[in-house]
Amino acid sequence: MTSTIKTAAPGWTRNGWRARPRVQMPDWPDAAALAAVEARLAKYPPLVFAGEARRLKSHLAAAARGEQFLLQGGDCAESFAEFSADTIRDTFRVMLQMAVVLTWGAKVPVVKVGRIAGQFAKPRSAPTEVVGGVTLPSYRGDIIHGFDPTPEARRPDPERMLMAYTQAAATLNLLRAFSTGGYADIHRVHAWTLGFAEQDKAERYRAVSVQIAQALDFMTAAGVSPDTAHTLQSVEFYTSHEALLLEYEEALCRIDSTTGQWVAGSGHMLWIGDRTRQPDGAHVEFCRGVQNPIGLKCGPSLTADDLKRLIDLLNPGNEPGRLTLITRFGAGSVGDHLPRLIRAVREHGADVLWSCDPMHGNTIKSATGYKTRPFDSVLREVREFFAVHAAEGTVPGGVHFEMTGQDVTECTGGLHAVTDEDLSHRYHTACDPRLNASQALELAFLVAEELSAQRHRSALSAAG
Ligand code: PEP
Ligand code: CO
Repeated sequence: MTSTIKTAAPGWTRNGWRARPRVQMPDWPDAAALAAVEARLAKYPPLVFAGEARRLKSHLAAAARGEQFLLQGGDCAESFAEFSADTIRDTFRVMLQMAVVLTWGAKVPVVKVGRIAGQFAKPRSAPTEVVGGVTLPSYRGDIIHGFDPTPEARRPDPERMLMAYTQAAATLNLLRAFSTGGYADIHRVHAWTLGFAEQDKAERYRAVSVQIAQALDFMTAAGVSPDTAHTLQSVEFYTSHEALLLEYEEALCRIDSTTGQWVAGSGHMLWIGDRTRQPDGAHVEFCRGVQNPIGLKCGPSLTADDLKRLIDLLNPGNEPGRLTLITRFGAGSVGDHLPRLIRAVREHGADVLWSCDPMHGNTIKSATGYKTRPFDSVLREVREFFAVHAAEGTVPGGVHFEMTGQDVTECTGGLHAVTDEDLSHRYHTACDPRLNASQALELAFLVAEELSAQRHRSALSAAG
């Protein structure tokens, strides 16, 4: 049946990935239960529409040209236990705050993409982990099994895909309501400050919000029409996650009636992780056939040849906005890797969006035994990313980060100076350590500074 469907990717079928090497996915113990869940999911409505994914692609194409900037962030792993309206609202609010800082500071429209409403499955560096002296299968996300450190909880259960779908649908519903129902109205820029744990540290943000409020008052006084004002009352907010659990992705894959092409219905943007980007592997095979914008994590082990092969597979038509390269090398290593990958892309004549993930190359074990990320390393990788792009004459088009609106202590450093000892106080992540709200804002201020300096340089060179 699928052979009659027009697709941009020759020879592609939605289950073609099954013939490829499968890594980082569970061995489901009960094939019949899995098949039953897949059949049910395949009948459920998609969570997103193809037109939205195409619209996001056009924004990402603009970001690749330096006309917009991609802000992509959220949980490392969404969990069933932390699912609540407050958690969603707080993550959304931090994204809005960061976007305000960037738009105000760098005078650039921000494309807002959450790691949310589907970010449930995790790749792991080791197949097992030792908890309290017991060796268990590593935790791979709530969509697969439970977090509790017992063999029963860690048994893969396909019913969890239905629970994840339901949570994603409810999350997206609330995000859509926040985006257009008044919460995101820029006139409420002050109200978004409420909830800062330590009010004094929010001063810098408050100063920006005062300036914005004054600008809005000026616009009203100057007679800006309600038509124009409408664009200030809502935001576009997109969803994304790692396309890791391919049974879930395949079941939510749909034909877009407008173009006749396949679209992943699980989220607007999908990315391929650094551990699953083998050019002949299952994950690349699945992603090449759906028309959504695709992210590709690029770590230190990615060779120039593999990158070129991946570009050919994932974006054979060199469509702008289709491919985002999310680099994650670690502070101190950006200069060793980014220039060679930029050169490969240039040699290949490929149109890509460069985004910086300053989280995944900077994970360490703290003196107190917690997996953490020094905030200084996070900021340093961002600075290095901007410096290399300035030297190469390429566009630093976005950032990708793990963050929560909750007041956690998972990454060390920042204005509040979270110490190794503090990590135990509020360490709630189901997987990797996340920036808390105030660290995320600090990151936004740094990016705004780097970006406005870069835009200033480009304007000067264009004028000269
Ligand atoms: C992630 O983004 O959570 C992740 C696992 O990243 P990476 O594939 O870059 O390690
Ligand atoms: Co992570």
